[in-house]
Amino acid sequence: MSYNIKAYELAENEINERRLKAKSLMQSRLNEIYLKIPEIKEISEQLSKTSIELTKLIIQKKTNFTERFNEIKTRNLQAQEMIDSLLRGNGYPADYLNTPYECVKCGDRGYVNGERCECFKRLLNKYETDKLNKSANMPGCDFKHFSLEYYKGIINDDGTDCYDTMLKIFSSCKNYAERFSLNSPSLFFLGKTGLGKTHLSVAIAKHAAQNGFNVAYGSLLNYLSAIEKEHFGRTDGSFDTMGAITNADLLVLDDMGSEFPTSFYEMVTYNIINTRINLGLPTIISTNLSLEELDKRYNDRIVSRIIGTYNILCFVGEDNRSVKRIGR
Ligand SMILES: Nc1ncnc2c1ncn2[C@@H]1O[C@H](COP(=O)(O)OP(=O)(O)O)[C@@H](O)[C@H]1O
Ligand SMILES: [Mg+2]
Ligand SMILES: [Zn+2]
Repeated sequence: MSYNIKAYELAENEINERRLKAKSLMQSRLNEIYLKIPEIKEISEQLSKTSIELTKLIIQKKTNFTERFNEIKTRNLQAQEMIDSLLRGNGYPADYLNTPYECVKCGDRGYVNGERCECFKRLLNKYETDKLNKSANMPGCDFKHFSLEYYKGIINDDGTDCYDTMLKIFSSCKNYAERFSLNSPSLFFLGKTGLGKTHLSVAIAKHAAQNGFNVAYGSLLNYLSAIEKEHFGRTDGSFDTMGAITNADLLVLDDMGSEFPTSFYEMVTYNIINTRINLGLPTIISTNLSLEELDKRYNDRIVSRIIGTYNILCFVGEDNRSVKRIGR
């Protein structure tokens, strides 16, 4: 996927800050230890002398090179062991004087063997999805503010209790959010307007984002119109919505079916759904349309891909917007 330049800059800045922070933390630890355990300071000074010796040895290519090299190496190891045991003896962990990088793999440089490190890719994704999520700032849409009271005393068409159905849906959404991983299944929220589909999908998205996942949340309509503008060159080309949403750890597409039906939208919708299924990444889609309406509205292959791979949750009840106003 192509990332926009702004996301690159932000990711570079953050990784540089991480490295500097690790180094300055390391420096203050050194100062602290040198003061408390002066022997370690002496040993460290010896160690830096031997490293100069070693460099000289390599440059001069003396005949007894291997012998001297091994001797210096043994001395270094012994010095290192002494430092470790002094640290432990004074109640410090043995790795206290290792620079505390956030990513040990790349030492917060963002590169390993000339390739971008995983930590850098995660940062890039974070900044791409941050931009996508600006519109999804919905305070109050969380599990704590989801009430099952609204569903009490309502009987479903098939005679079952609405409350029981919604209790199951609520519990499985909460469970899903708490255990969310890249291997989580995809979910499809079906049901009339005002039943809490958007509320619960936002709650899951927030929870997953708090656990460090890159979450892209938005209405399908907004995404499609952004992708359309980018596709037909009506933007400055710096942002790749399609790339960012197909690669997010969790993608939430709200209100499928509210967009104007065009063949371009239908093709893009299929591509998004299909690409994420192929990548094995979880997606949550909500819609106010019934299965019959979906069937009429969309190409067979879209509906059959969803029904075949998503877990379907049918929301029931009366429009909670009006219930909220009346204050039942
Ligand atoms: N069970 C619930 N508890 C508290 N608020 C709810 C509940 N269900 C819906 N709401 C609120 O009612 C409004 C409409 O719900 P929403 O989730 O947008 O419905 P839908 O997406 O199913 O059309 C929102 O403000 C939402 O926070
Ligand atoms: Mg909704
Ligand atoms: Zn790294």
